[in-house]
Amino acid sequence: MKKTDKYTVVIQGWDLMSYFSDTRDVCWFLEPELANAIKALHGAIGNAVTEERYIVVGTGSSQLCQAALFALSSLSEVQPVNIVAAVPFYSTYVEEASYLQSNLYKWEGDARTFDKKGPYIEMVTSPNNPEGTMREPVVNRTEGGKVIHDFAYYWPHYTPITRREDHDLMLFTFSKITGHAGSRIGWALVKDIEVAKKMVHYLTINSIGVSKESQTRATTILNELTKTCRNKSESFFEYGYEKMKSRWERLREIVESGDTFTLPNYPQAFCNFFGKTISTTPAFAWLGCKEERDLGSLLKEKNVLARGGDRFGSDKKYVRISMLSRDHDFHVFLQRLATIKDLK
Ligand SMILES: Cc1ncc(COP(=O)(O)O)c(C=O)c1O
Repeated sequence: MKKTDKYTVVIQGWDLMSYFSDTRDVCWFLEPELANAIKALHGAIGNAVTEERYIVVGTGSSQLCQAALFALSSLSEVQPVNIVAAVPFYSTYVEEASYLQSNLYKWEGDARTFDKKGPYIEMVTSPNNPEGTMREPVVNRTEGGKVIHDFAYYWPHYTPITRREDHDLMLFTFSKITGHAGSRIGWALVKDIEVAKKMVHYLTINSIGVSKESQTRATTILNELTKTCRNKSESFFEYGYEKMKSRWERLREIVESGDTFTLPNYPQAFCNFFGKTISTTPAFAWLGCKEERDLGSLLKEKNVLARGGDRFGSDKKYVRISMLSRDHDFHVFLQRLATIKDLK
């Protein structure tokens, strides 16, 4: 990706000093320019409905996930509310739902085997971290359930955009669009004002809002992404998709040349954003081994570090490999993987 000055942000020492951004907004610490940039980007990509939604900005979507758990469970008549996600799930949900030992909610593990009575919140990550599949809720009950849709990876460089997602509570993050994880900017699109208010209440107690410098930088970058997204030579999403596609092709070639590893196969689909049928090229590879072995430990011996499948509620014969590392690191990873012909 070409480095240009268009993404440069200058902030004067005396700017952005207040806690407040817009006291008329439910999310009073959200910079109005960031709200506009978020709406414009979703509009241009076509991946989520922003009309009639409250935008809540957070210090990453990690903070918003905890704000959402607080909001939904404190509005529930019965507590603690059970928190579930279908295996394999994003491992951090376990920590987010457990580490405060809250009386409001309780981690209950796999949504597919969840059979407890009482209210629940299902975390639905789509495309999923770790294995990149598009997901729907799996708990099939007519009452007592809320869903938090985590769309961190629902962008066209990872997966075909097949519809504008339209749910009660949707989470997005700057981290996974461009890789600006260090800015710590995420946002929630929330339908119900009471839920939005409770989330803002949580964020107020937790951090009295979100860094204005980060919001300003995110605004500039998101606006530039929107402005260039239809220009093939300048579009970040064109660049990102080609990069991911080539990485996945190289990884598949190595996996298919041996008889040791497995990778999921993904269907191709028509992407409304690109206007053509494209492949699914997830941010992580869910690498498995054909034998019943602890793949994470075996790879570690070969100097390949990956998070073991057990961390995602799944099996140790799988690991999650990041497809988003720097070019050099990814190249070294492929070289090392190619030398592993058997796991003995
Ligand atoms: C599914 C999912 N949700 C949320 C996050 C956290 O994102 P943030 O950096 O915005 O806190 C991650 C980060 O890996 C993720 O994979």
